[in-house]
Amino acid sequence: MKILLIGNGAREHAIAEAFYKNNKVQIFSYLKSKNLGIVSLSKKFEIGDYNDFEKIKSFAKKIKPDFAFIGPEEPLGNGVVDLLKGIGIPSVGPTKSLARLETSKSFTRNLLRKYRIDGNPKFGIFDKKNIKNAKNFLDEIGQCVVKPDGLTGGKGVKVQGDHFQTKEEALGYCNEVLQSHLAVIIEEKLEGEEFSLQCFSDGKNVAAMPPVQDHKRAFIDDRGPNTGGMGSYSCENHLLPFLTKKDAEDGLRITQKVANALYKETGELYKGIMYAGLIATKNGVKLIEYNARFGDPEAMNVLPLMNADFVDVCNAIVSGKLNKIKIRFQNKASVCKYLVPEGYPNNPAKNERITIGNSRMPWNR
Ligand code: AMP
Ligand code: GLY
Repeated sequence: MKILLIGNGAREHAIAEAFYKNNKVQIFSYLKSKNLGIVSLSKKFEIGDYNDFEKIKSFAKKIKPDFAFIGPEEPLGNGVVDLLKGIGIPSVGPTKSLARLETSKSFTRNLLRKYRIDGNPKFGIFDKKNIKNAKNFLDEIGQCVVKPDGLTGGKGVKVQGDHFQTKEEALGYCNEVLQSHLAVIIEEKLEGEEFSLQCFSDGKNVAAMPPVQDHKRAFIDDRGPNTGGMGSYSCENHLLPFLTKKDAEDGLRITQKVANALYKETGELYKGIMYAGLIATKNGVKLIEYNARFGDPEAMNVLPLMNADFVDVCNAIVSGKLNKIKIRFQNKASVCKYLVPEGYPNNPAKNERITIGNSRMPWNR
């Protein structure tokens, strides 16, 4: 069995390790930059950009993999799944159109609204033409959050009380966003604990992994600037200290309805990971966003706990038989902590050794 793995982060290393447990598998990896962890598990690897479709195509044609697994959002947003489909290679990962679940926040909010799926906060979508209505909308809701419509690496979202204080500042930021984006979304600010519910989807059947909580602030006690993630945990009982069984089930129910709605809307089956970024509020579980891929670091929390063979799970996703297999996770807690360079995230030191306490890490020796 040959698998093409696209991506070069810690997340893709966790994915490669999960595949590697199956000794019939050969991993071929396509990476933006070299990750020794992934490369050491790969039979062959290729370094290239995620938008270099010629390079990806020729690597894939040489390998003829049984399927491809796409780790990061960038190649998904570029349409790499459509490219591979065009040469007869199925993927675990959505097509460009379905990846809008992550790449377009307005698409997802409108989808939930159109199909009457619970989980949306109050929201309004504004472009240069109707931005004059934004002030009235802001008066209707309490505190707000302003989001550019499109991929921003999690950095374009600004939250009232956190990144700005007044409605005037919110409007100012909306106008700033519209200089570089076609639309901006204003949402009611939701209060509660956030959690990540990563689900497998074959387009019809959706199965949840244990929920994980990711901490994004740079410093302890959830202080300091937002980062791509500093650490995360999951619990032995597959819930979280603030999360009830019903909350977790509601998150899965919403995601199953979204998979059904995506099929109705596009005629395409979503085959891949649906990562729901949810928040447990006093009015129930609400949706912050979807990602069309595993979380980084959340993949590291749950993949090592999975009892099922990950290759079987991916085959079931590709063939639409997710309902035929049992996916169980060990009843163990997991914790990830990121080692980041001095100055991260605003001014990270580059090409410096990272040491912990007095001990050098093995790769620094
Ligand atoms: P997003 O890119 O949509 O995940 O937003 C980044 C972060 O902004 C989230 O992880 C939340 O902490 C925060 N956020 C986004 N939308 C909301 C909302 N409606 N209410 C409260 N916080 C939000
Ligand atoms: N851990 C957040 C993300 O992967 O988007």
